[in-house]
Amino acid sequence: MSKGMGAPACTMASYSMITMKKFAGAMFLLGAVFLNLTFLAQPFHNPSRTQAQNRSLMVLIWDWPYGHALNLTGDPCATLCSIKGCQLTWNRNLYNQADVVVFHHWALQHRRSRPPASKPHPGQKWVWLSLESPSHSNDLARWDGVFNWTMTFRRDSDIFIPYGELVAQPSDEVDIPEKSGLVSWVISHYHHTQQRAQLFRNLSKYIKVDVYGRANKKPLCPACLLPTISKYKFYLAFENSVHRDYITEKLWRNSLLAGSVPVVMGPPRANYQQFIPGDAFIHVDDFGSVKELADFLLTMNESRYQRFFEWKRSFAVKLYDSWPERFCTICQCFPSLPQGKVYHSLEKWFWS
Ligand SMILES: *[C@@H]1O[C@H](CO)[C@@H](O)[C@H](O)[C@H]1NC(C)=O
Ligand SMILES: *[C@@H]1O[C@H](CO)[C@@H](O)[C@H](O)[C@H]1NC(C)=O
Ligand SMILES: *[C@@H]1O[C@H](CO)[C@@H](O)[C@H](O)[C@H]1NC(C)=O
Ligand SMILES: *[C@@H]1O[C@H](CO)[C@@H](O)[C@H](O)[C@H]1NC(C)=O
Ligand SMILES: *[C@@H]1O[C@H](CO)[C@@H](O)[C@H](O)[C@H]1NC(C)=O
Repeated sequence: MSKGMGAPACTMASYSMITMKKFAGAMFLLGAVFLNLTFLAQPFHNPSRTQAQNRSLMVLIWDWPYGHALNLTGDPCATLCSIKGCQLTWNRNLYNQADVVVFHHWALQHRRSRPPASKPHPGQKWVWLSLESPSHSNDLARWDGVFNWTMTFRRDSDIFIPYGELVAQPSDEVDIPEKSGLVSWVISHYHHTQQRAQLFRNLSKYIKVDVYGRANKKPLCPACLLPTISKYKFYLAFENSVHRDYITEKLWRNSLLAGSVPVVMGPPRANYQQFIPGDAFIHVDDFGSVKELADFLLTMNESRYQRFFEWKRSFAVKLYDSWPERFCTICQCFPSLPQGKVYHSLEKWFWS
């Protein structure tokens, strides 16, 4: 699958792929989906190895994500993603056999681990993985000239791992959860200097916001999160920092999946519209002042409100919150990934 036009390289029929119809026509999409499906059914072969060896691709995950152990026994890529021939392992003793080695920036940054001192062995690729924004990624310059591929929320990553996406799923019914509150926000790390905190305080002068999460000593248990926030008409999907493509579970899970209209603060509206339809969300930049935003929310009528859910006629939310699934994406993308690539300045790339 081509990476052109900003479409994710190796994801299924997502919203961003479907918007490509405008350029390439419906037949292209059907063809692409078909190719993608037949492609998924094939086992993966490392081009550097002969067909006769018939071995699967081995992906060595150097660090447990955020230090949490994951159970990779069985064949998670086959079970979860119908991807055959994709072996995931934590076993560093298999380093010499690994086709791909994945390093999580969080572990590098916290000096919990470091890559082997030697370079990747011939044909092996090193992947730099991060789900955090550039503002929360330190020490990037240490890794100049080390990694072959990137794996992040950025659409121009070699392996694109968004926090979620809209997948094609036509539906006659648009279900909107029953509402008893106006605006909610879940926040675990509140720093009063952050832009999102300032905006929240400003907004609170005009409108009542119910705040949940550790920062407000009202943590929600995982099973309580969606039922609680789905009762609100609007959700403050404020990102912790503003960066291209940095659109997290605050949008996908807390808003769209919960059925609460997202009021987003993050990259510009045009960037959001590369992920979701423009009428599915409210962007804080759409208003000249915080008061105008508050008035818009306070005076919203039912018919206007329902329009925010039109996307549900064509799409469903797919969360990408499973680490095994993310790692399996590497095998899915593998055949189309660039050869001979090195990130000479990770920092320059990530901040661009
Ligand atoms: C390759 O592996 C698959 C699955 O293990 C097996 O069914 C197939 O016969 C093998 N092909 C060759 C040429 O060895
Ligand atoms: C890991 O997953 C496998 C397969 O799903 C399961 O059989 C096994 O009990 C799990 N092990 C642990 C420690 O959870
Ligand atoms: C919040 O309000 C203050 C004072 O009116 C203003 O200076 C600031 O720019 C506002 N910040 C945000 C993020 O809305
Ligand atoms: C609802 O609000 C929209 C937008 O503000 C407005 O155009 C429309 O006339 C309103 N509908 C009713 C029934 O009040
Ligand atoms: C991968 O990156 C290393 C630098 O760590 C570089 O020496 C090597 O040529 C790259 N390999 C490939 C196949 O791109």
